[in-house]
Amino acid sequence: MRRGFIGGNWKMNKVLQEAKETVENLNKSLIFSRGIDIVIFPPYTLLFFLKDLIDLPNMYLGAQNMHWEENGAFTGEISPLMLKDLGVEYVIIGHSERRTLFGETDEIINKKLISALKHGLKPVLCLGESVEERKKDMEKEVIERQFKQDLRRVPINFLENIVIAYEPVWAIGTGLNATPNEAEEMHKFIRTLVEKYANDNIVEKIRIIYGGSVRVENVEELSLKEDIDGFLIGGASLRADSFSKIIEIFNEVKGF
Ligand code: 13P
Repeated sequence: MRRGFIGGNWKMNKVLQEAKETVENLNKSLIFSRGIDIVIFPPYTLLFFLKDLIDLPNMYLGAQNMHWEENGAFTGEISPLMLKDLGVEYVIIGHSERRTLFGETDEIINKKLISALKHGLKPVLCLGESVEERKKDMEKEVIERQFKQDLRRVPINFLENIVIAYEPVWAIGTGLNATPNEAEEMHKFIRTLVEKYANDNIVEKIRIIYGGSVRVENVEELSLKEDIDGFLIGGASLRADSFSKIIEIFNEVKGF
């Protein structure tokens, strides 16, 4: 059985005091489950302060982005060495907000992915189609293109360190989640891509999580799907009570 994965992507939210309170509340309210990795992805400015506050053996720190180079003249960027230095274990690569608002191409995402793996960071690679692409029934084509280009030249033995997040752009921050069947169909499709481009051993190991308007109200029905191994949560991860509740429901449904 694959381990569960629940990520809280805080995006550009919280100053230090709010972040400390959230983590302290998470320490109190989160149930310990051996079968789930819980990762919070705060803004860069908070990573240093939160590292020592996390007080759960299965809770880790992640970053929302990184540059692919180790150092150099890249004003405003953060390198994988800097993230490692702070005790960061995971990094989100290719979030749709990075792709659409900051012009990240599959080529850039591929460089970041390879660099993260080389530095021992575990990437959470986000894939997802836009609303226009879904309307034209192009979602599988788009995901296959992103998958192939983003994972180009990634050694097969590294693949199991990657978590793939299926995040349809039309479901992010809109309150409109993919139905459990829509999500499951895409997760199964992504698993066939892993089989096609990698090999059988990895197919069963790689974790594919869903992101897009996950809330306390819809997490149970999504968790019931076999190929949904967890979630990447935006809005509902900002409050310790909703984030903890989501994890509790997921844990119960999956029976970890
Ligand atoms: P919401 O949960 O706010 O829709 O955001 C999802 C997301 O983008 C997680 O990375």
